[in-house]
Amino acid sequence: MQSDEIRSRFLKFFEKRGHKIISSSSLVPGDPTVLFTTAGMQQFKPYYTAPENALRDFSSKNTTSAQKCVRTVDIDEVGDSTHLTFFEMLGNFSFGGYGRHNAINYAHEFITKELGLEISYVTFYKGEGVVPRDEESKDIWAELGVRDIREDGKDVFWGPTGDSGPCGPTTEIYCKNADGQDVEIWNIVFNEYFCDGSREKLDKGEAKLKKLDVLGVDTGMGLERLAATVQKKKDVYQTDLFNNEKTREKRVVADHVKASLFMISDGVLPSNAGRGYILRRLIRRAVRFSKNPLSEEIEKIKKIYKGVYILDDKGEIKKEEDKFRETLAKGIKEFEKGIDPFILFTTCGFPIELTLELAKEKGKEINLEDFNKKMAEHQRLSQTASAGMFKGGLANHNEKTIKLHTAHHLLLAGLQAIVDKNIKQRGSNITEERLRIDFLCDHKLTDEEKKKVEDWVNDKIKSGLNVVRKEMPLAEAQKIGAEMEFGAKYPETVSVYFIEDKNSNPISKEFCGGPHVKNTSELGQFKIQKEEAVSQGTRRIKAILA
Ligand code: GLY
Repeated sequence: MQSDEIRSRFLKFFEKRGHKIISSSSLVPGDPTVLFTTAGMQQFKPYYTAPENALRDFSSKNTTSAQKCVRTVDIDEVGDSTHLTFFEMLGNFSFGGYGRHNAINYAHEFITKELGLEISYVTFYKGEGVVPRDEESKDIWAELGVRDIREDGKDVFWGPTGDSGPCGPTTEIYCKNADGQDVEIWNIVFNEYFCDGSREKLDKGEAKLKKLDVLGVDTGMGLERLAATVQKKKDVYQTDLFNNEKTREKRVVADHVKASLFMISDGVLPSNAGRGYILRRLIRRAVRFSKNPLSEEIEKIKKIYKGVYILDDKGEIKKEEDKFRETLAKGIKEFEKGIDPFILFTTCGFPIELTLELAKEKGKEINLEDFNKKMAEHQRLSQTASAGMFKGGLANHNEKTIKLHTAHHLLLAGLQAIVDKNIKQRGSNITEERLRIDFLCDHKLTDEEKKKVEDWVNDKIKSGLNVVRKEMPLAEAQKIGAEMEFGAKYPETVSVYFIEDKNSNPISKEFCGGPHVKNTSELGQFKIQKEEAVSQGTRRIKAILA
């Protein structure tokens, strides 16, 4: 059975049983606290807490989908027989339509009757804290005649995805692969709780569970692994979703180019931050393992998914490939000479993960602590919203831009002090000549307001105030009300820049990677050049230092 058939049989099976077929959502999720779509349930997250909306939106309490997913925790493991960065997840979901009985019966029927597979064993949750042992699932499996039913702990408790969300106990189905080994095929989640923190927090005992009004069902079955089992192949690369790649190198290239092609088709572009950085790492790692142009791989992948997904990388993979191929050979030579990984990153574009992998292969030691120290500044720039201030990377950190950067912080504080304390920054850009800030404001600034803001900033410059950087936990920085950019993703520990008055009270505090001047007296004369509208409710100021 070809994978296209498995996919469509799955969707039809559930459609026949009252599920609405929903298309895959984008790999870039709506939830800003998650980097990529990692599970089928993500696009349905809101329905578990508001199940009444499912009927309104889908004309059914139950949905089914084949979802594009990217999971990037194990990039370095790709190339063995099980790890993939891109995969499709088949799933059925219910928001109060049915519970354990139907969910388990559907799964059993699909696996044993529709696909004709034998279940080797299933698992159920043994219970912990407020969550009881899942006796009901255990009994349902027993009634269906499954003999090997095993209890398990944390591995069979799902979620939440992102910084909070639905979660609950799961029951998993294992089948034998062509090597006779048991592999997990299907994960059936019973979303019975809402967790007010992330999975990490939940595991540390720092988040609370609240029972949901309605039991939700959320299942996930990886298409590639299922296809390998159905097609009796030893690994996913021998299914029709790949091209029978046999070496680790070829597998890495096939997986990474596929993930990159899907990511770019969903609007991600290579960059040094967030999703863009993951994409860059994937393309560069593929380049390292491929002697042939990646375009050959792209064509093969498009053929596999023809008729299922529209894939177009708009030449972006080649652009990134050309750029990296140029420095790759030089970088490897430098690496062999024992060059600093930080220099490899900045001059040859070697992501640290690549350097570490090279080091492992060649049995060399890398001083990661030293690298991290040197990179701290750079990474903060990438991870904070202020990254936009220094478009084009570190190269722009000269005296002029550093001064304008500090003036930028003063200007935002000045706008809040003079025009409206609720003004929020929406974007920024700094060149050697000028700074630019976009901010939310409901009116065009009057000449008087502009003059007052200018005077306010110049007064702070004349006063010679200290600019101080402090590192603190994200939560603390949020608590003290440091300026941050809406929707941006921040690391656990952040750097905050304070501009302090003579009594050490902050007149400005912003999440920022820097760098900044030490004292505002270094700035010179501040002047607003232009104030204009960008869009409804958003204004833009360009200003200079003379
Ligand atoms: N949401 C269930 C799974 O991805 O396994």
